Amino acid sequence: MKEVLCILFIVILSVSDAKVTKQNIENFLKCLRCRTSPEYPITEAIYSPHNSTFVSSYVSYTKNKRYLNPNDKNLIAIVAAKHESHVQATVVCAKSNGIQIRIRSGGHDLEGLSYISSLPFVILDMHNLRSITIDVSTKKAWVQAGAILGELYTKIAEASKTLAFPAGVCPTVGAGGHISGGGYGNLIRKYGISVDHVVDAQLVDVNGKILNRASMGEDLFWAIRGGGGASFGVILSWKINLVEVPEILTVFKVNKTLQQGATNVLYKWQIVSSKLPQGLFLRAMPDITNGEKSGDKTIAVKFFAQFLGSAKTLMEIMKKNLPELGLKREDCYEMSWLNTTMFWANYPMGTSTSVLLDRPSDPPGAFYKGKSDYVKKPIPKKGMKKIWKTMLKFNNVWMQWNPYGGVMDQIPANATAFPHRKGNLFKIQYFALWIDANATDANLRLMKKLYHVAEPYVSSNPREAFLNYRDVDVGSNPSGETSVEEAEIYGSKYFLGNLKRLMDVKAKYDPENFFRYEQSIPPVLAM
Ligand SMILES: Cc1cc2nc3c(=O)[nH]c(=O)nc-3n(C[C@H](O)[C@H](O)[C@H](O)COP(=O)(O)OP(=O)(O)OC[C@H]3O[C@@H](n4cnc5c(N)ncnc54)[C@H](O)[C@@H]3O)c2cc1C
Ligand SMILES: *[C@@H]1O[C@H](CO)[C@@H](O)[C@H](O)[C@H]1NC(C)=O
Ligand SMILES: *[C@@H]1O[C@H](CO)[C@@H](O)[C@H](O)[C@H]1NC(C)=O
Ligand SMILES: *[C@@H]1O[C@H](CO)[C@@H](O)[C@H](O)[C@H]1NC(C)=O
Ligand SMILES: *[C@@H]1O[C@H](CO)[C@@H](O)[C@H](O)[C@H]1NC(C)=O
Ligand SMILES: *[C@@H]1O[C@H](CO)[C@@H](O)[C@H](O)[C@H]1NC(C)=O
Repeated sequence: MKEVLCILFIVILSVSDAKVTKQNIENFLKCLRCRTSPEYPITEAIYSPHNSTFVSSYVSYTKNKRYLNPNDKNLIAIVAAKHESHVQATVVCAKSNGIQIRIRSGGHDLEGLSYISSLPFVILDMHNLRSITIDVSTKKAWVQAGAILGELYTKIAEASKTLAFPAGVCPTVGAGGHISGGGYGNLIRKYGISVDHVVDAQLVDVNGKILNRASMGEDLFWAIRGGGGASFGVILSWKINLVEVPEILTVFKVNKTLQQGATNVLYKWQIVSSKLPQGLFLRAMPDITNGEKSGDKTIAVKFFAQFLGSAKTLMEIMKKNLPELGLKREDCYEMSWLNTTMFWANYPMGTSTSVLLDRPSDPPGAFYKGKSDYVKKPIPKKGMKKIWKTMLKFNNVWMQWNPYGGVMDQIPANATAFPHRKGNLFKIQYFALWIDANATDANLRLMKKLYHVAEPYVSSNPREAFLNYRDVDVGSNPSGETSVEEAEIYGSKYFLGNLKRLMDVKAKYDPENFFRYEQSIPPVLAM
């Protein structure tokens, strides 16, 4: 009887989201209750603005201060699902009441697209669904969307000293967003990216059904590996293959300032870094630092490396391929894979690995903006100098030059929805960070300038961009509507030749475009 009643009122109250009424909101909340079992009380998962814990629940996973707005009048509620049925109910009840949802796992979206909308919306927050089960014998794991990378890395290391997973560097990044956007990290040259090791997934579709790889089919399974999950459904969990690493790896971090010949070393780096043995990942990070005289600023390029082998072998490789860096044995540290994840996250040597489990819940302290580029031929020294000059106009900005090559040259661009594979020397991430709200306009302007200065030296037609380094400047739609023309602009940069198939998959699985946001994939059936 209860079931029937629920269904009735869903059908009757189905409205367009142009106008969400008080009644819709009440019905939404009622619908959540009758679509879930008292065994898993959903009231405990619902935070609406009158709950005293609403703000803390909101800020805990709001990572970019630029989009921090706990008084957002459009935000109806946060559903921090504690059970899969809460996810299913949120999708069904939001849809039937014309309310948009934003899906949030770790909240690291660079443009806040997991927690903002200009229309009435609900945040479906996944952080409570974070279990991880590792099976060492089959070298596989199930990871729920709300797990963070630090938890995944810790669990893997507890289970085995020689297993790992190729994913990102920041321990608080969420598995939900990170993996569905590609998942890039320092094992890329040897093992590719996260989506290359996803073998199954659980997803709640637009009808509130839980699908796995077999029941969703290969098209949808292909799309959520790199196409971004939020256009297609809610990822509940991933099944991943773990990869083998030696018990001891080697890392180093050395700096070269412009005065110490950074430009020359980095020029040579551009030529060799994608051709080094696959077990060596050598990232270069141009950064602003203090110059020799007080008050002076200069650029220091930090070279961060990870090698799947001993310091001795690494020294030989470096001497042969990049002697200009002047690497010394004492710069190298041998350690476990788990300890390398700490090293990359910049924790001082000797820090307890328990920090990898930290989920800081304080409001975000900083504003930031990121951008990305792919580079296919070396940037001439003249171009590098122009880039340095622009960087020096910022107070705080850095770049990551992340080498490609290795298996990335061997995996076809259409194997997953993530398309940026063969032919790239490296990928650039630009990142500006500031703590004074008044500096926002100046920083955003400078980031556009830096991107403009780099234009002649990077990929073009389209100028490729990495979905996980979300950037609304490459094109975006208003929250409530999806212009296909606009979507083709950002879509072609993020997905290249895979965009067409993504639109086709979208049309098949979410024809009414319920799962939409500013950079979602529009439902367009291929002819
Ligand atoms: C400090 C920092 C370091 C980073 N380092 C790296 C790195 O090393 N490598 C790298 O590849 N990227 C990196 N990123 C980018 C990061 O991978 C992306 O921001 C990623 O989308 C974050 O996932 P999330 O779950 O934390 O984010 P969220 O903000 O929760 O989500 C991001 C996007 O995914 C969607 N989404 C989230 N969960 C789900 C779900 N369960 N189902 C469907 N859709 C979902 C959201 O709606 C949104 O569109 C970094 C970002 C930051 C801020
Ligand atoms: C929010 O408040 C409502 C009404 O008082 C209550 O039922 C619900 O349990 C609260 N939610 C949480 C997560 O505490
Ligand atoms: C490297 O540069 C950073 C700033 O970019 C600085 O903080 C650090 O001390 C430098 N390290 C060395 C070893 O010079
Ligand atoms: C890892 O780091 C911890 C804490 O610094 C240290 O005690 C341990 O010896 C390290 N182990 C390896 C194998 O690197
Ligand atoms: C990828 O493209 C190749 C060549 O264009 C084609 O043969 C292959 O079937 C495609 N693979 C997928 C998974 O679409
Ligand atoms: C930012 O600007 C406001 C208004 O102009 C001013 O009152 C405030 O002091 C400024 N803050 C800082 C940190 O400069």
